[in-house]
Amino acid sequence: MSWNTVTLEVSDDVARLTVDRPDALNAMNTETLDEIAEAIAAAESEAARVLILTGAGDDAFIAGADIDYMKEFSTPEALAYAERGQGIVRDLIEFPGVTIAAINGYAFGGGCEFALACDLRVASERAVIGQTEIDLGIIPGWGGTQLLQRLVPDETARRLIFFGDRLDASDAYERGLVGDVVAHDDLYDHVDEMAAELASKPRHALHAAKEALNAYHETGGEGGLTVERRAWSGLFGTPDQREGMAAFVEKRDPEFE
Ligand code: COA
Repeated sequence: MSWNTVTLEVSDDVARLTVDRPDALNAMNTETLDEIAEAIAAAESEAARVLILTGAGDDAFIAGADIDYMKEFSTPEALAYAERGQGIVRDLIEFPGVTIAAINGYAFGGGCEFALACDLRVASERAVIGQTEIDLGIIPGWGGTQLLQRLVPDETARRLIFFGDRLDASDAYERGLVGDVVAHDDLYDHVDEMAAELASKPRHALHAAKEALNAYHETGGEGGLTVERRAWSGLFGTPDQREGMAAFVEKRDPEFE
């Protein structure tokens, strides 16, 4: 499937959403945001178990919100734009499969926020990542102030946002922003391998795990424990749970739905 600035490929339960606006290093205007939202919805209707988010070309993942487009925004216009970007952050957080950001180059501002909203992040050695808004006279508005706190200590989050640092891949790895750094040419092979393995896991259990992990950040530890208890017990009786445990006891490999 393809739109003007976004493409979506789905095969073997894995969807790959590529932001493709090369002239602006994949920076996002409202058309791109609408298309990303539609592509995520399409991946969900295709029942994708894994959604990979990446940028077209060798230079950029997503160079942020389109600065040229928003430079004259009034406050109400900016608020509407923040709501739009945050809507996509929410779509990624709530996507019923695992989301992986394959960070192939610049990931700044809103691009960094979309990567942070994914479950997992893999960076190519060429990735450069940062919440760079401070030098534009603004702050992160698509979830960055909240999402960074899920991944890195408060001190690191404050430094990244206050200084607007642009971290190279190894720095991003050391500070806990990405889980893996791989050679640029190996990025998609590596991410595809991860995606294939995740797609072979029991779907409902993976989704329940994601919801329970997310609950920690949304409701704090106690609320999260309640969600975890409910999700854990709700999996008993599902075909995958019965199969997974029977296979263990019968000393064979499980065959999940
Ligand atoms: N919004 C709009 N256009 C952008 C953009 C953005 N966030 N990021 C890059 N572009 C455009 C540039 O304006 C330029 O367009 P032009 O060719 O019509 O002049 C094109 O993409 C290439 O960018 P350029 O700056 O010439 O390339 P570069 O290799 O020298 O630098 C970056 C690349 C990403 C380091 C630099 O473009 C940059 O810092 N971008 C802003 C990143 C940012 O702060 N994002 C957060 C926004 S909230």
